[in-house]
Amino acid sequence: MKKALAMILALMMVLSLAACGNSDNPQNSTAGGESKAPVETQNSNEGGEVANKDKPLVWFNRQPSNSSTGELDMDAMNFNKDTYYVGFDANQGAELQGQMILDYITAHIDEIDRNGDGVIGYVLAIGDIGHNDSIARTRGVRKALDTAVEDGGAIKSDPVGINADGSATAVKDGKLTIGGKEYTVRELASQEMKNSAGATWDAATAGNTITTWVSTFGDQIDVVASNNDGMGMAMFNAWSNENKVPTFGYDANSDAVEAIANGYGGTISQHADVQAYLTLRVLRNALDGVDIDTGIGTADDAGNVLSDDVYKYVESQRSYYALNVAVTADNYKDFLDATVPYAPVSNQLSQDTHATKNVWLNIYNAADNFLSATYQPLLQKYDDILNLNVEYIGGDGQTEANITNRLGNPSQYDAFAINMVKTDNSASYTSLLEG
Ligand code: BGC
Repeated sequence: MKKALAMILALMMVLSLAACGNSDNPQNSTAGGESKAPVETQNSNEGGEVANKDKPLVWFNRQPSNSSTGELDMDAMNFNKDTYYVGFDANQGAELQGQMILDYITAHIDEIDRNGDGVIGYVLAIGDIGHNDSIARTRGVRKALDTAVEDGGAIKSDPVGINADGSATAVKDGKLTIGGKEYTVRELASQEMKNSAGATWDAATAGNTITTWVSTFGDQIDVVASNNDGMGMAMFNAWSNENKVPTFGYDANSDAVEAIANGYGGTISQHADVQAYLTLRVLRNALDGVDIDTGIGTADDAGNVLSDDVYKYVESQRSYYALNVAVTADNYKDFLDATVPYAPVSNQLSQDTHATKNVWLNIYNAADNFLSATYQPLLQKYDDILNLNVEYIGGDGQTEANITNRLGNPSQYDAFAINMVKTDNSASYTSLLEG
């Protein structure tokens, strides 16, 4: 009897030590970004009384929408009363990117035209022609550089392919007056960077394409623009760094910000630190049954709160949008590590009032630079702060089934965070929750 008691005591000690280790060491749940199995959680959907279709759901980074028209898929955004989208203000960011490039050209007008032919030539890497963020950025660059052509009130965003003589119909030759002198601007080439397997925003494709463009245009290329930093950096590393041609991206990934010191022209921070927080925060609030604004516009019990200069909420779209900031040679030193949680929302929640819950979350393409190098590391820091046990699933960027196959048993989770491969495909996920 005594022996049995001693054994039980010893077992209890081991278990409690293990539990301490778990809460004391935040690395436990972030190490290497491994997927974590759902844990038995206190108050956590015991007996499965919450139907999967009623569990909190957040779409992030790829807004449910029609990939041809851009129209928002409000059925997906209203899937249940606890469904939201988290992304960033694509138009405000796109305007900033265009303005950043224009400002650079203006400041460097004396040396920008490398071959002195009077034409400022640029090439543009497009991410995904059916993704609203990508479309907005293409439009932002064309608008700022006066190469935009409108169709039915909207700027065309189609790639031009090769436009050596300025005859493409999706763009026109722009005119910029700088220092009292008029310059012509031409989009020499643009292309959707999709690889042969179908993955979009593909950095390797951009790296290869710049080499082809250079063999066609040589020193007619004065500026390189990209819908994101993954592709921008691939072009910078393959060609423009060595040839001192300013290259502009988007996302403020750490490697791109660091490259500004070596001549990368600039990038835009889409405030991933705020977005990653919001992605998990809306789930936390719904799981806690508190007002959705808790820890967002209204301080929570740990003091977390966001000010309205870093995000906006559009109720009619059930969408939270982080605001963007330009990152250039003037301020890049403040952005060197893109994976630091945003200080005003980095206070640890208490287990007593916010017990651990299980979340299933997918990244549409495990090879996407922004999502894997910036967004996921941030999510992994916030999941500790918010007491969420998140299982991270990385997709192949090509097929929805590669991801949905790994949501075999939704009943194991308390909430879901979804990053679709294609913005039209919300039903591939919601049908699993309805089933
Ligand atoms: C990012 C891109 C990323 C894409 C994935 C965009 O918001 O800027 O870098 O490839 O999301 O959906």
